[in-house]
Amino acid sequence: MNVLVVGGAGYIGSHCVRRLLAAGHRPVVLDDLSLGHAESVPAGTPLIRADMADAEALRSAVREHRIDAAFHLAALADVGESVREPERYRLHNVVKAAAMLDVLEAAGVRRFVFSSSCAVYGVPPRVPITEDMPLMPVNPYGRTKLEAERRLEIAAGAGRASYVALRYFNAAGAASDGSTGEDHEPETHLIPLAIGAALGRRPPLTVFGTDYPTPDGTCQRDYVHVEDLADAHVAALTRLDRPGTALALNLGTGRPHSVREVIASVERAGGRPVPHAFGPRREGDPPALYADASRARAELGWSPRFTDIEAIVGSAWRWHVSRSR
Ligand code: UFG
Repeated sequence: MNVLVVGGAGYIGSHCVRRLLAAGHRPVVLDDLSLGHAESVPAGTPLIRADMADAEALRSAVREHRIDAAFHLAALADVGESVREPERYRLHNVVKAAAMLDVLEAAGVRRFVFSSSCAVYGVPPRVPITEDMPLMPVNPYGRTKLEAERRLEIAAGAGRASYVALRYFNAAGAASDGSTGEDHEPETHLIPLAIGAALGRRPPLTVFGTDYPTPDGTCQRDYVHVEDLADAHVAALTRLDRPGTALALNLGTGRPHSVREVIASVERAGGRPVPHAFGPRREGDPPALYADASRARAELGWSPRFTDIEAIVGSAWRWHVSRSR
């Protein structure tokens, strides 16, 4: 299929492009490069530099490349920033996303894979998290993801579109061939910050909170390899062959890892210490978030290939070391 990957120069988008190519599809990237990197797009893959809501750019992309389906990964995704700038998050993640979907639907594109987040659940009543748990996001980022899911649900209900919303847990790791990895600036995520601290490229890591009701007092998360996330997008594309598809699916390994465990894993991967200090909790961090991904297995035949935190952290370590900064 010819697949428009909106946000295809970003961290997860650029891995999706590689997996689409490997599966024999033809990706076309549309990205404004405000957060993504042109060099993350493989040579030979068309890159259209445009705003995601640029109607003319979208229409001509659909026409010129005979687009069959779209992946939407062009969101702002920094939880702390969303608390400080909720209007900007709503404008980008909800209003512009809806404008883009309007244009694509009108141009005849009816199949969507949407990059959603476990942030739609907020603080879940139990773990592991299943898709039928209450959707009660606790920050503007999570609320915008939920609103965008609702937009797709409405289109599907009206028979205008089919979609799969993929609720990622903590995306981590880098491409197995070393061609691309996680490159955010500013960086807020645990694994790249811990690696940067170990390499002396970033300040010592601050562990946010040691008094959580978890086995070692630090927060637990479900780190899922970015190539596994990308594989789920490709599987979702096939699932969209079935008319009326309207699905929201968790993507995680189902294995919780604490901040202390991640630090230890980075230290093993690099063979050197991660300089760190202990600080207070970060506002809005739930104690433990991990997925029950059995619905993704049932609906897509997806299960993560990287189930071991050592392998996930190891791939991130190798990519960061291979870079000059
Ligand atoms: N952490 C630290 N120190 C740091 C950075 C993070 O201790 O310097 C801790 C956090 O408190 C958290 C864990 O490491 O317990 C992971 O934090 P990240 O910032 O890497 O990831 P989050 O779990 O906060 O965020 C992820 C996704 C978001 C998504 C969110 C849902 O990156 O897109 O899960 O809760 F919204």
